[in-house]
Amino acid sequence: MTASELPRPDNHVIVIFGATGDLAKRKLLPGAFHLQVAGLMPRDYRIIGSAPPSFAMTDEQFIEHAREASAEFGITTPDHPAWAEFTRHLSFSAAEPGNAAGLAEAVQRAEKQIGGNPRRLFHLAVPPAAFTSMVDMLGDSGLATDRSRVIIEKPFGTDLASSRALNRAVHAVFDESQVFRIDHFLGKESVDNILALRFANGLLEPMWNRDYISYAQIDVPETLTIAGRANFYDATGAYRDMVVTHLFQVLGFVAMEPPVSLSARHLRAEKYKVYEALRPLDVRHAVRGQYKGYRSEPGVPADSGTETMVALRAEVDNWRWHGVPFYLRSGKALGASRQVITLGMHEPPLRMFPVIRSDQPTGRRNEIVIDFADPGSISFKFLAKVPGPDMILGASQLAFRYSESFAQANALEGYERLIHLAMLGDQALFTSAEGIERLWEVSTPLLDNPPPVQPYDPGSWGPASVDKLVAPYRWHLPEDAGT
Ligand code: BG6
Repeated sequence: MTASELPRPDNHVIVIFGATGDLAKRKLLPGAFHLQVAGLMPRDYRIIGSAPPSFAMTDEQFIEHAREASAEFGITTPDHPAWAEFTRHLSFSAAEPGNAAGLAEAVQRAEKQIGGNPRRLFHLAVPPAAFTSMVDMLGDSGLATDRSRVIIEKPFGTDLASSRALNRAVHAVFDESQVFRIDHFLGKESVDNILALRFANGLLEPMWNRDYISYAQIDVPETLTIAGRANFYDATGAYRDMVVTHLFQVLGFVAMEPPVSLSARHLRAEKYKVYEALRPLDVRHAVRGQYKGYRSEPGVPADSGTETMVALRAEVDNWRWHGVPFYLRSGKALGASRQVITLGMHEPPLRMFPVIRSDQPTGRRNEIVIDFADPGSISFKFLAKVPGPDMILGASQLAFRYSESFAQANALEGYERLIHLAMLGDQALFTSAEGIERLWEVSTPLLDNPPPVQPYDPGSWGPASVDKLVAPYRWHLPEDAGT
């Protein structure tokens, strides 16, 4: 389907709260321009950047800010001929709780300019601690109307009680159908391709269960440190930043039963069933690490106990997955930046094949590997006979690479895809209230009794106990990091 055939969102006034912040700079402003060029923005729209008065900008400054952001981070850069037209949609209006009248006027003005009955989309790209007061402000100021929708960033809450309280505050102003809790991993092409791989093909689904699969891994190491994000990160840590949000969302797609359709209702219902079947985490199967030097990062307390890396075993206790460990790992300052799902098949009896080439570190691995970092790949690892007089086995693979298989011209970045869906009112790739609460509920044992952080060397793969966690299996990374 080309962009011109895709449904076009209704006309919109979009308000980005946190418009001077990091997320707006890296993703939201460049993303809006790319959507415009891709023909996926509404026929008419306005984007109003907003921030507290102490960060206020003039319209011209905001346009310059958006230009710099798109030049540095955009898929389409401002030298594109559409840039000048795009800037006509941008303006800035400061607001903060108790002081939103100016913004309300700016929104009404923008609506008049567009004409008709445009929708409002509020994107709360603000620190999680500000979510409740911002939602209250949208209610009190009359900005939130029946035709409004709100995108809320992550992490949504910090535990079960706070996520429930936040949901209550949100539902006091918005109906659940107006709420879009964003997790940009669900906008990644290769994550959505898990649904296609599993449910559009007869090949894999029959073996996508505990009869054939002995373990699953969702591994998202990052080489970057927390550089510059101490305020957010030290209060959040790797578990809340990555696992409750991104990794569990991916797990939902890997583990779900076939949904009746890809509609929001069916997809979210199946994902929720997976979360219902998750066992509360067992702290004996969790490792928290902290990279050496973290406590000297500017803004980090010298005695910080925040984990910069976490690895754990999750269990989906249902007919499909009972007994199959799901190992999750993510962290900063690790040995590589990767986003990899690995499904390990049960090992067959191999005694008829006594020799496996010793220069093949993958040994007897028999795995399905989904690399979901854009543009992504899927590979099957298997053993094959090495040509020669003897029956010697060597590690082999079949690989599908997005970059070599399809034109990338229509590819959208995760945020772009999700913002387009939010404008269409499609919640399929957004987290539900009950889903997020259930994830915090299963997290409670770990949040209540976190094991002490263990130091690890930057550039390593975490403390040694990370390897013990997956025994008798091994992490797919880093041995197979090149594949
Ligand atoms: C963000 C986390 O949500 O996701 C960051 O806050 C992390 O800590 C990032 O680095 C990873 O996402 P991506 O798509 O940039 O790999």
